[in-house]
Amino acid sequence: MTAQYERVDEDDRLWRPGLGDLVRLRTWDIFTRFLPGHGRVVDVGGGPGTHAAHLAGRGHDVLLVDPVARHVEMAQARSRAQPHAPFRAELGEARRLPVPDQTADAVLLMGPLYHLVQRDDRVAALREAARVLQPGGDVLVEVIARHAWVLDATLKGLLGSREIWDNFDRNLRVGLSQDPDRPADGSFWAYFHHPEELRAELDLAGYRDIRLVAVEGFAWLLGDLAQRMTDPADLLRAVRLTETEPSMLGTSAHVIGVARKP
Ligand SMILES: C[S@@+](CC[C@H](N)C(=O)[O-])C[C@H]1O[C@@H](n2cnc3c(N)ncnc32)[C@H](O)[C@@H]1O
Repeated sequence: MTAQYERVDEDDRLWRPGLGDLVRLRTWDIFTRFLPGHGRVVDVGGGPGTHAAHLAGRGHDVLLVDPVARHVEMAQARSRAQPHAPFRAELGEARRLPVPDQTADAVLLMGPLYHLVQRDDRVAALREAARVLQPGGDVLVEVIARHAWVLDATLKGLLGSREIWDNFDRNLRVGLSQDPDRPADGSFWAYFHHPEELRAELDLAGYRDIRLVAVEGFAWLLGDLAQRMTDPADLLRAVRLTETEPSMLGTSAHVIGVARKP
């Protein structure tokens, strides 16, 4: 995972026209409504710092933590580029955060749960977030939805290949995007959640008031997405109407679990 992120430009993902704009603007819309308006936020797996910079700009006191040195350096450069709203970025890992007990008002885990492919590790990361949260603090946790690869491959016109159907079979059965028995070849290795599985993991880690919110919702499946995102207000409003509807959560590529530490 680290080797892959040292090579791939993760910074680019949220700024691509169309899908990048949809993911970024929907995520920020969810932050506006589901995060407390101010206070200390720990952005675990914050990558190159797009969300950290946004939240620092809105008045949050942000610490970004990421295990990939390149990401931490990019985040620090991003912070230097906005001296009016700086944030801190440090090396660290979701299961052992460099943060004292009960000092955060909110913890973001926007990515680490994809890469922690064992359930015990995911629950350990959620418990570690609870350790640093104050009582009443919120965690926002993003996962990839179980059927995202079938939808994505369909959108990309990949259904003609024979291997893809074996690949779907494995992906849907065990939720892994790559065969862990094969040597790592640098391709994406991630865990894909059934949305209700995220609820169960948050519950097991001791959180309460759990809500599941679609990020892209149905909008990422639109053929003319890039065109629609040039003037996105109505589309974003329509996605909001469906964002917590249980029967639609699985059509989103990503789902965010929002929950409270008792
Ligand atoms: C898909 S990127 C998301 C980056 C950013 N949070 C965003 O939403 O754009 C996943 C991030 O999680 C980080 N990550 C992966 N495993 C992690 C772990 N065990 N602990 C903390 N961060 C991790 C990666 O280094 C990467 O920056």
